[in-house]
Amino acid sequence: MTITVIGAQWGDEGKGKIVDFLAEQADDVVRFSGGANAGHTIIRDGEKFTLHLVPSGILYPNTVVTLGIGMVIDVPSLFQELDTLEAQGIQWKGRVLVSDRAHVLLPGDREEDKRLDASRRLPIGTTGRGIGVAYVRKAARDGVRVCDLVDDETFAKLSADEQAHFQPYRDRLKRMSSDLSDRMHSHQGRRILLEGAQGVMLDLDFGTYPYVSCGMSSAGGASLGGGIGPRRIDRVIGVFKAYSTRVGNGPFPSEFSVERDGDLGERVQTIGHEFGATTGRPRRCGYLDLVALRYAVRTNSIDGLVLTKLDIYDSFDEIAVCTGYTIEGKTWRTVPANLRQYEQAVPVIERLPGWQRSTANASRYEDLPARAQDYIRFIESFVEAPIDIVSVGSSRDQTIIRRTPWKA
Ligand code: GDP
Ligand code: IMO
Ligand code: MG
Repeated sequence: MTITVIGAQWGDEGKGKIVDFLAEQADDVVRFSGGANAGHTIIRDGEKFTLHLVPSGILYPNTVVTLGIGMVIDVPSLFQELDTLEAQGIQWKGRVLVSDRAHVLLPGDREEDKRLDASRRLPIGTTGRGIGVAYVRKAARDGVRVCDLVDDETFAKLSADEQAHFQPYRDRLKRMSSDLSDRMHSHQGRRILLEGAQGVMLDLDFGTYPYVSCGMSSAGGASLGGGIGPRRIDRVIGVFKAYSTRVGNGPFPSEFSVERDGDLGERVQTIGHEFGATTGRPRRCGYLDLVALRYAVRTNSIDGLVLTKLDIYDSFDEIAVCTGYTIEGKTWRTVPANLRQYEQAVPVIERLPGWQRSTANASRYEDLPARAQDYIRFIESFVEAPIDIVSVGSSRDQTIIRRTPWKA
């Protein structure tokens, strides 16, 4: 069985926690997109693991993880991350594979990313990890792939600087390099998780272009980037938070504003610890944008949703959600392609009563306060998809399963 897990908002929805949770039953976890722009957090027995390139199945000793075809890999960062994991007691050797078709960053890509963004008329606010530079080189058919580093003759054609940059890692990369599509083919019948990065609204095609990342964060990318045909993917799971956040620039209609919402934004940011796992930047916070979430459900064939961070709203007396946009005097229930219009969107807000009780210890759905269940039902009926898993804290055991995606 193969399950795709994607972020259904602007990233940082809790994909790391959920992939780790589901990976307990997985044989393989494959990251299919992005690079070290991602920051996926897992809390195990109180200990924090922050993953940027390594897939979030690494904490289970029998799970094999692969950096997929659709990724852009910063090779020195990968080995630094593996060293950190080793220092945290994770035995990774023999369990981390790298697709031979994945692209690698070249020395200087990070600096070029920062320089380019600073020179943009309207900076995107990239993570400065060289992601866009590597994907543009890939699309320009001038990229360097893992297979090129492994092959002596192709490697010899790189510049002296490039060779010096990769040389310390070549032997290790050779041992980890893998034909992912062949592996996926021979592993039919096993349990495979395809882990996305970023989120639908940051996807190059579906997102708020040009304020997007360069990878394929949507479910369509799981097939290409995971080395598997689209019809072999059995289920698509979309992870979203009880509210919305966004890092970097670009339209965000449901963003809290001090004039309209007083200290709500600051409260969500503080209680939810909304600071980037990669750059430490404060995340912009807003109401749950149900229009954008429904767009994600529809464009990704999401079968089941995972609601995270419900606990952050425990102390709120009222919960507001965005159910439409007012643009140039008209009400929209869809996401406009045109950024000039999207930037003007004023959220249509509906309010629900808060539950004002802790959800952090709820282990069954029935344990959740009635008003929290009402909130969940409201979301399900708007976006027309079931919420199968509810997360009420960062640790593994703070996860309520209503329907396991592993069951056929
Ligand atoms: P990702 O990029 O989608 O993997 O998400 P991040 O790791 O960047 O951000 C999610 C943050 O929320 C992490 O710090 C998680 O530990 C934390 N988190 C995940 N689920 C929950 C939850 O249900 N409640 C709380 N309080 N924190 C959560
Ligand atoms: P995870 O996987 C949140 C945002 C950046 C910027 C835009 C483009 O942890 O959810 P890039 O460096 O990719 O060219 O930046 O995308 N961004 C993310 N925001 N979570 C992420 O990853 C992100 N990866 C990129 O802030 O606005
Ligand atoms: Mg993150």
